[in-house]
Formats: sequence, structure tokens, C-alpha cells
Amino acid sequence: MNEALWEMVDHAFETWLVPEREAMGALTSDADEAGLPSIHVSAMTGKFLHVLALSCRASRILEIGTLAGYSAIWMGRALPDDGRLVTLEVSPKHAEISSRNIERAGLSCRVEVVCGDAKTLLDAMLQRGEPAFDLTFIDADKESSADYFDRAVRLSRKGSVIVVDNVVRGGRVANAETGDASVEGVRRLMEMLSNDDRVTASALQTVGRKGYDGLLMAVVR
Ligand code: SAH
Ligand code: DHB
Ligand code: MG
Repeated sequence: MNEALWEMVDHAFETWLVPEREAMGALTSDADEAGLPSIHVSAMTGKFLHVLALSCRASRILEIGTLAGYSAIWMGRALPDDGRLVTLEVSPKHAEISSRNIERAGLSCRVEVVCGDAKTLLDAMLQRGEPAFDLTFIDADKESSADYFDRAVRLSRKGSVIVVDNVVRGGRVANAETGDASVEGVRRLMEMLSNDDRVTASALQTVGRKGYDGLLMAVVR
């Protein structure tokens, strides 16, 4: 383990790959000031999601878990003019702060924050026959990741991509006896995927300024 080195490398990558005008420093410091937890994705992961959205030509994106809108803005910037991103957030405070940040980023015409419990909102979307999403990013309460993933598949088409954040949690995912509900949530998702022929999935471990964690990526068959 060498967390200082991981952070140094992230910093160097940011210097090379994330110019000042893309960086959203004000957004993250305002969010800190408002007392929001600092659990948004790193700049490198945000830009990775941006590159992924561009590479799968996503014009409809779904996000579960908005916080201050940081990852939503990274993905929203990859949308074509007529594209749309819907992001679901249970906390009215987070929804309000993120809506303001999305407005300031000039994305409010394409990015919509919907406030409510994600499971309820996803079920309503399924009920009313919401058009398929090209890309879904799941990053809310980890206890419900399997439930979100199942609904995301049903809101997808063949070829849609689903990404799940925080599937490693410092390696605790490999331990069946953590007693940590969020780790158990990720393990429940993994168990579900081990027997889900609706998707083809892989997972990558990551290190960086957010420590040791990882991303799962699946494509709908
Ligand atoms: N994707 C964001 C970080 C999200 S943090 C980013 O990288 O910038 C997780 C968010 O999920 C928090 O804002 C939390 O309030 C929200 N959340 C937790 N439980 C939820 C639920 N049941 N439905 C919707 N959002 C939820
Ligand atoms: C936590 C949640 C996240 O989405 C994340 O990226 C890191 C940490 C958390 O709840 O601790
Ligand atoms: Mg996360």
C-alpha cells in the first residue's frame, strides 16, 4: 500500500489530462463547504466516464446517486445537443445543490436531477415505459446495488453499458465476514451477476486519490 504515491500519480494525470476549464474545483470546494461528504468520483474516474459515454455514443444516460452533480456533469458534457441525462437523488439538499451546479455548468437543458428514492423512481420509469438508456452509472447506497442493477438492465437495450462504482471497498469485497452492509450489498450484486445471462460483465480494481476501490462494467446482451 502506498496511498501517497497513488495520489501523486492521480495528480500528475490530472495535470496532463484535465485542463483547468474542465476541473470543477469550485464545485467540489462548495460541496465540502456545504457539508456534503467528499465521496464523488475522482477527476480521473469522472473523465473515464466521460470518455466511455463518448465511446458508446450515449445520448441517453441514467445515473443513480447524484450528490453534488460532479459525475453527472462529467457524463453530461459527453452528450450530443439533443441528448439527455437523468440523475436520481434521495436527499433534497443534494438534489438542490447539484441542480445549481448543473445550471452553472450550462447543462440544465440536458441534465435533470430527479429527487426521490431511486428504487421507487426506477419502478415508475419501468411502469411508464421510459425509453432505453445507453449508459447507466450506479453510485448510490451500496446496499441496493443489486436492485438498481436489475432495474438498469430492464431500462436498457441490447448493447447498453452499465457501470457500478465502489465494488472493491479496500478489498473488503472478497471477505464474506465484514459485517458491513455496503460490502454485503456489493457481494449480493456479484452473486446475482454470477448467474445473470442478460449481461456480460467485468470488474477492474483501481487505486488513486480515493484509495483502493474499483468499477464493474457490464454490457447488455
Ligand atoms: N455519483 C456522485 C456521488 C454519489 S454519492 C459523484 O460521483 O459525483 C451517493 C449519493 O447517493 C448520495 O448523494 C446519496 O444521498 C444518494 N443516495 C443514497 N441512497 C439513495 C437512494 N435510495 N435513492 C437515491 N439516491 C440515494
Ligand atoms: C462512499 C460512497 C461512494 O459512492 C464512494 O464513491 C465512496 C464512498 C461511502 O458511502 O462511503
Ligand atoms: Mg461512488
